[in-house]
Amino acid sequence: MVGVKEPASLELREIAKHYGGLRAVDGVSTVAEPGEVLGIAGPNGAGKTTLFDVVSGLTPATAGDVLLGGEPIAALSVHRRCHRGMARTFQQPTVAGSLTTYENLLVAAKYGRAGEHWNGLGADAVDDAEWALDWSGLAAKADEPAELLGVFDKKRLMIATAVVLGPRTLLLDEPFGGLNDAEIDTTLTLIQAVAGFGVAVVCIEHVMRALVKLSARVLVMHQGKPFFEGTPQAMLKDRRVIEIYLGEKAARNAG
Ligand SMILES: Nc1ncnc2c1ncn2[C@@H]1O[C@H](COP(=O)(O)OP(=O)(O)OP(=O)(O)O)[C@@H](O)[C@H]1O
Ligand SMILES: [Mg+2]
Repeated sequence: MVGVKEPASLELREIAKHYGGLRAVDGVSTVAEPGEVLGIAGPNGAGKTTLFDVVSGLTPATAGDVLLGGEPIAALSVHRRCHRGMARTFQQPTVAGSLTTYENLLVAAKYGRAGEHWNGLGADAVDDAEWALDWSGLAAKADEPAELLGVFDKKRLMIATAVVLGPRTLLLDEPFGGLNDAEIDTTLTLIQAVAGFGVAVVCIEHVMRALVKLSARVLVMHQGKPFFEGTPQAMLKDRRVIEIYLGEKAARNAG
């Protein structure tokens, strides 16, 4: 069975990131449990992507701790966090454009080396890359330069590249943005499968239909701060969340 050997929770403690006087992230604490999706929502500029930048190590935190499986990782570099089992995708489709789809997966499988955290991944990079090609539905595009892929294929390549590392936690930044309904449904199935592998998934998203379907809980951020945390159903009904973010109509449609 393919999946995480020793599932690990991802815990954020009082994360802050200040740019001069701007408190982009200001005291966020939450936990993502293995096998579940924690949704993150909130208005543009709320600090969602900045939170991922801090948690993944792309930018140093002003304050706060990140624990993966109970171990502090906030002092580690990006690649060490990756090898401990943390993977992420980006809001803007980000792939190695001059490599083919298959080569993107092969590089991740060979050098990401978190596969030791998984059963069924990590022994042979070629086998793993081929598994990820099939798993993500990209086999027909294996030999295309990744820069020529459309948005949907780039987005699923990012997810497949993250999964072939064999992560214990996966941070997804707007995996549904810019996709049509059918593409959203396919992506929903992939992300549900990732959670099914035992990964602790955190998913930032504005497409409420998708976020509501995926998430066990949702954290809504506003002006860098945690504003609401609860079930997706409770979020859709929360007067304050409707006021600052959802609007009446969107809340009705997503429910
Ligand atoms: N490198 C930076 N330097 C200065 N300010 C920054 C930097 N990165 C982000 N910010 C600011 O931090 C705030 C939060 O931005 P962030 O991109 O995290 O928002 P977001 O919640 O992801 O928004 P969106 O939903 O539009 O993607 C914004 O005011 C943004 O301008
Ligand atoms: Mg963002």
